[in-house]
Amino acid sequence: MEKITNDIFYAGVNDHEIDLFEGQYIVPLGMAYNSYVIIDEKIAVIDSVGGSFADEWLGKIEEICAGRTPDYLVVQHMEPDHSANLHLFMEKYPNAQIAASAKAWPLMKAFNGSDYEGRSITAADGGELELGAHTLRFIAAPMVHWPEVIMTYDDKDKVLFSADAFGKFGALDTVDPEGWLCEARRYYFGIVGKYGAQVQQVLKKAAALDISAICPLHGPVLSEDLGYYTGIYDTWSSYGVETPGIGIFYSTVYGHTRKAAELLKEKLLEKGCPKVALIDLAREDWAENVEDAFRYAKIVLATTTYCNDIFPVMRQFIDHLVERGYQNRTIAFIENGSWAPTAAKKMKELLSGCKNTSFIDGAVTIRSAMTPENEAQIEALADALMA
Ligand code: FEO
Repeated sequence: MEKITNDIFYAGVNDHEIDLFEGQYIVPLGMAYNSYVIIDEKIAVIDSVGGSFADEWLGKIEEICAGRTPDYLVVQHMEPDHSANLHLFMEKYPNAQIAASAKAWPLMKAFNGSDYEGRSITAADGGELELGAHTLRFIAAPMVHWPEVIMTYDDKDKVLFSADAFGKFGALDTVDPEGWLCEARRYYFGIVGKYGAQVQQVLKKAAALDISAICPLHGPVLSEDLGYYTGIYDTWSSYGVETPGIGIFYSTVYGHTRKAAELLKEKLLEKGCPKVALIDLAREDWAENVEDAFRYAKIVLATTTYCNDIFPVMRQFIDHLVERGYQNRTIAFIENGSWAPTAAKKMKELLSGCKNTSFIDGAVTIRSAMTPENEAQIEALADALMA
């Protein structure tokens, strides 16, 4: 039985069977679905876990409650990785009430078949639930990550239950060799990247709270150096620059576009760029590529013309960026086309709606293999990127 504080216990589970989280994200280290139990005069359970872990979750609650029964289930988020088992909880504990936001009830009915009328407490923004020594205060967090999301603050232990925010990929019984940051970033930009403005709103609310620990729905409990985590979330959600340097994202069919991208990297490093990330879009995880694009102030997109359009993996990459609100960046293009190069124009069109984004004039156009003239153009592009 894992204690978070004297009264707060961990009741989550680790999933090593999952192939794709949310149907699209690889999770080589598995996934954790976190749930917490607060023991007081009244007992509250914060969130459920994914569908196939009902027995493990209910067993943990029973053990933590030690002969007592829970009074409340707080449902912060209705996405099924957290809510799939709530109907089993409500069956097992017929005297328990369920607390959720007004927007959660129709989702609960749709997913679980009931909105528990007569056993429900609507958790309004700023609303409170008294447990005894602990009072839970609800914080509306719409679109972080669905519209019904709430966070919950325990004012006795100063714990913020942050729903999906501050989560990461990876089960808790594995050691992530990269620490918290990389998989937290991939998770953030993949899952809530589009909703930076809403994350900013919640960070403002959180700034007014005295927080000693953050308990997210995925990933580890955060209890030290919390300013670091809220600071990095501020950077991400404001579409700020996390890492000084330039990202070059390319796709290549026969290696010629790769050579151009490699030459650009070499020139940038020669000119003193602190970091140049060179990423083969077809050979790296797409969500890793997306998070990398949000790290740098400037990116270069290098690809081939394909079917009078953009090579598919680059088109998908740009779609992922645009749908996540990519903004505040400078973008340059390298295109390759043996008879009718058109990729640079098409890429710029796709990105033209990005807020506060500028494009470096004059794409480098390669017609099959690089020429000495192309090499000079890449040198000039490196100068423009370093300006
Ligand atoms: Fe972890 Fe949005 O569900």
